[in-house]
Order: sequence, then C-alpha cells, then structure tokens
Amino acid sequence: MVCPNGFATWSLMGKQRMEKKKEKEKENGGSEGKERKDRDLRNEAEEIRKIREKLKKQLKPDRYEHSLSVSFTSVCLAMRYGYDLHKAELAGLLHDCAKQFNKEELIRACRKDGVVLSQEMLDSPQVIHSIYGEFYARKAYGIEDREILSAIHNHTLGKPAMGLLDEIVFTADYIEVRRWKAQRLKEIRQLAFVDLQRAVYEILHDTVTYLEGTGSYVCRDSLDSYRYYENLVKKRGDTFVRPYN
Ligand SMILES: [Fe+2]
Ligand SMILES: [Fe+2]
Repeated sequence: MVCPNGFATWSLMGKQRMEKKKEKEKENGGSEGKERKDRDLRNEAEEIRKIREKLKKQLKPDRYEHSLSVSFTSVCLAMRYGYDLHKAELAGLLHDCAKQFNKEELIRACRKDGVVLSQEMLDSPQVIHSIYGEFYARKAYGIEDREILSAIHNHTLGKPAMGLLDEIVFTADYIEVRRWKAQRLKEIRQLAFVDLQRAVYEILHDTVTYLEGTGSYVCRDSLDSYRYYENLVKKRGDTFVRPYN
C-alpha cells in the first residue's frame, strides 16, 4: 500500500539528512570552510618553502640552521600557548633575516632605507640586525603582519610588555636546540613550556647579569625589559618552582 503521504515523508527524511549533513559540515567549518582551510594550509606551506629557499641562499649555514631551529621552537611554544602556528613559524624563520650583513653594511642599509638608529644602537652593533630585520623582512620577504615584524624587531633586547609572539620568538631564540652556551639552558627550556613570562624574565636576568659580569655595555632597552618582567614576576608573587628535575 502506498502511503498517501509518501512523498512528504520522503522529503522530510531527505531534509533531515541534509540538515544533519549541514550540521556536520558546520562543525568542520563547512565544506566551503574546509576547502578554504586546505587551500590556506597549502599556501602557507608554499610560503614557508619559498622563504626557506631564499634564506638558505642568504645566510651562512649555521645561521640558517639556527633560524630553522628557532622556527620549530616557536611553533612548539605557539602550540603550548595557543598562538597562530603559521605566524610563529614565519617569525622564527625570519628573526635573523638581516644577519648576513656586517655592521658597516647594516648602518649603510639603515641610512639608505630611512631606518633611524639611536646612538645607543650605533654603540651596540649586535642589536642592529633586529632593528633593520623588521624593515628587511618586509622589503625582501613581503611580510606585512605587524606582530611578526614586531617579534623580529624585539628578539634581541625585548621590550616592556611584549606581545605573545614577541615573547615566543625571544624565548625560542634563547632555548632552541643548537644553543649550548647559556648556563641554565635545561632549566629555562623546561620553564618556557610551563610559564613563558617567567622564562622571559629568567632569560633577561641571565643576559643582563652575564653582560654586567663581563663588563660589557647593557642597552637601556634591555634593562627596561628586564625591570618590567622583574616587576611582573614580583607582582604575581611567584615562588620559583623548578618545572622538572
Ligand atoms: Fe638575532
Ligand atoms: Fe637568533
């Protein structure tokens, strides 16, 4: 016997199925969203591949390896702290993109491109690559993202109240797998994945203490960063707990 309402029942079931499908797609960001996501991921992988290729030609082998390691470490920290993985990968990869220039070349490039350097910067040439790096990442690698450019700019001296990506790259630069000289590396590496701001403080503390101990000049910006993170840690009333033994 044919149900007099058969067609209506069939279309209702069909409608329900369609709605369920749509709901599932919505959960996955929609079929359109998924396609876009796939495309974005492909584009991101292609962007990283091209930048690596170019960077490899410009940097010395050790510097290139270091850049890769900072990039991987930045991604790990971004996973831990819920930051955009692609931006972390890019920032880590490019943080030393101006490191192939020597002091004279950097000063000349800054003058030519209108990047202003304070007297303090001129007296501490080791930090100029991060100042010019921000400009060079835009000029040579087409980076426009403000957070990435800021992370490149601040990776050497830090600054008070850094953003999350600044803190990630600053820390990754210190703890990446090829680093071996700093005294408390093991401890700070573990701490970085427990409490990032505390790790930033410890890095600044050890850097400033080391520079003062060797009679080297400590940049004002570095001291400002140190004081800011020291206050932050004090305000939080942290008691320092070793993450692991
Ligand atoms: Fe650097
Ligand atoms: Fe570096």
